[in-house]
Amino acid sequence: MKLDKTTESLLIFLVSFVILLSAFYVSRVAVIDFVSSEYHQDMDLTGARLSDLVYATVNRTSHWSTKSGYGAQFDFVLHNHSNSEINNWNIHMNVPNNSDISQYNGISVNVEKGEVILEPDSDNLTLKRNSPIEFSIVINTQEPFYPESISFTGYQRGIFGESVANNIVFLAFMVWAFLFVGFFVTRFNLKNYREKQKNDVRIILQSMNTFISFIDAKDPYTRGHSRRVAMYAAEIAKRMRLSEDEVQNIYYAGLLHDAGKISVPDAVLNKPGKLTDEERKQIQEHTVAGGKMLKQLSSLRGIRETALYHHERYDGKGYPEGLKGESIPLYARIVGVADSYDAMSSNRVYRRHLSKDEIIEEIQRGSATQFDPNVVPYMVDMINDGYVNVVKMETADSDDKSSDFHITEDDIPSVYMGF
Ligand SMILES: [Fe+2]
Repeated sequence: MKLDKTTESLLIFLVSFVILLSAFYVSRVAVIDFVSSEYHQDMDLTGARLSDLVYATVNRTSHWSTKSGYGAQFDFVLHNHSNSEINNWNIHMNVPNNSDISQYNGISVNVEKGEVILEPDSDNLTLKRNSPIEFSIVINTQEPFYPESISFTGYQRGIFGESVANNIVFLAFMVWAFLFVGFFVTRFNLKNYREKQKNDVRIILQSMNTFISFIDAKDPYTRGHSRRVAMYAAEIAKRMRLSEDEVQNIYYAGLLHDAGKISVPDAVLNKPGKLTDEERKQIQEHTVAGGKMLKQLSSLRGIRETALYHHERYDGKGYPEGLKGESIPLYARIVGVADSYDAMSSNRVYRRHLSKDEIIEEIQRGSATQFDPNVVPYMVDMINDGYVNVVKMETADSDDKSSDFHITEDDIPSVYMGF
């Protein structure tokens, strides 16, 4: 099953979100900072520390004799001046064997052999920041008792910013969210851009249809010529590995390369016999006329130059300016080859079309004299591999129905349009 790019991206986002969520869960539950310490000191200075900011103090506030021995009250205070809460704390303190704890509050007490374990009741599970927990216990012993060691253990959860693992997960989540939002914003903008681009193309093609219908009306024998030349030229550009924008522009340039024929009198354009010098000059003027007409179309690069220079020759013997070699704009050199191919392969009022082999021979003979030698091989390949026949078939309908001839965006192969 092949997924489109949007679905693929959404799946990647979904999977990465699940991974992040799992990592977050692990970092919250499994990766907790375990901190504990034991502190042995004189009871006057006593306490047990997790750090300088988290510690427990204990004071023997009173002691007395009883019938069975001795009793003493110990007051505990737990301090937390750190930036996070301490959870599930407990205190272990050594006591004589057979000790008995008679009073306590806010905690649960277990006495095991030689040790008392103090744990929080449900209200005191968490040692909050700057909110001390206080409680007292009374220990009854047979001998006077003075604790030698006390340990305080607590669990400091790595809530964001506390542990490295959480930091990484948090950062990864932020990056994920940023990319996720970015993805949708980009998709939305791209969609709008493509809609706009399609609309622009539609407007351009409608304008060109108007132009071409004028040209066709002037010269019915070359009907479909502009469209075929455009397709040949775009294919040459594609095979030359020019950018998609260039290929698209060359297509437009091919469509309009003969726009200047509008200014040539019908009688001259359609004259079946031999042309006089004056008439030939009038026909050649269509290049200059096209250049002038398309001057306003500067937003489409290369259109004007192609109309003006598509009859220049590589050896400098063309018209209207006699430009030579690479000083002839590339679009014009490409359209020049495509234009000549179409002229040779179409019936004209004064002759039938040439055969495939004759055309190839003509084009190769013109390499580096009439045509750019770098462009010729692509045109010859297109003739040999049959691409030109595909174009002829695709444009065949429009050849027959002059008044119906309209180009739509569907006529341009998608690769030429960049979408
Ligand atoms: Fe021309």
